[in-house]
Amino acid sequence: MSNTTTVTLEVLRYDPERDQEPRFQSFEVPYDEDWVVLDALNWIKDNADSSLTYRWSCHMAVCGSCGMVVNGEEKLTCKAFLRDYLGRGPIRVEPLRNFPIERDLVVDMEGFMAKLESVKPWIIREEEKPVEDGEYIQLPKQLKRFKHHTLCINCLLCYSACPQVGLNPGFIGPAALALAHRYNLDSRDQGRHERQEVTGSADGVWECTFVSACSEVCPKHVEPGGAIQEQKIANSVDWFLDHLIPGRSNAGRTKE
Ligand code: FES
Repeated sequence: MSNTTTVTLEVLRYDPERDQEPRFQSFEVPYDEDWVVLDALNWIKDNADSSLTYRWSCHMAVCGSCGMVVNGEEKLTCKAFLRDYLGRGPIRVEPLRNFPIERDLVVDMEGFMAKLESVKPWIIREEEKPVEDGEYIQLPKQLKRFKHHTLCINCLLCYSACPQVGLNPGFIGPAALALAHRYNLDSRDQGRHERQEVTGSADGVWECTFVSACSEVCPKHVEPGGAIQEQKIANSVDWFLDHLIPGRSNAGRTKE
């Protein structure tokens, strides 16, 4: 049990229409050992400054909207307990890195949405079979191969932690590439070749230097770093086989 009654939050504030540059504002917030950083932000909004702007929805690590940088580390603020920061000075809360700030702790996701769409994260078939022929069957062991890559909640912590996204804003990045891999591995999908136009481009998997900061901060253990390395292997094998067997069909591409 802690005797602490309050904690100090240093929150980044920035309104691009009014402020020259971002600044930190301190708030003294009541301490409750069951509170997370998001609870403290909600207290500030309700009791100290209703103009504080941030995103959240579920408060249970599902929606992915409350991602921020807390004391220098990417976190879902609905999972970051105040008690874990006690005795280390003020708790500093900043918006995710590598994104333009829209206001305070809210970042602009438009660039990410375009990247996500560019990898065609849906099942692609060379030819759809008629509905009356039934569903595309998938066995549990086939699902098991990519299930962990389906758990992404698009919280963008991985984009904030990735040094390559910081260096090259055009880099398609961890979450979108992991999702492309999820569909490439899906036994019902035949779209790997189509996705390779993006995943194999200069802004695709080869831009990753395998620092794996993305996998370290991922709250859902999606392993985007591993997914990208597996795609590098698959893309290389495809490149060689495409040169050896011209006209090779998508259906002929094995699932890695
Ligand atoms: S509020 Fe939904 S993940 Fe944190």
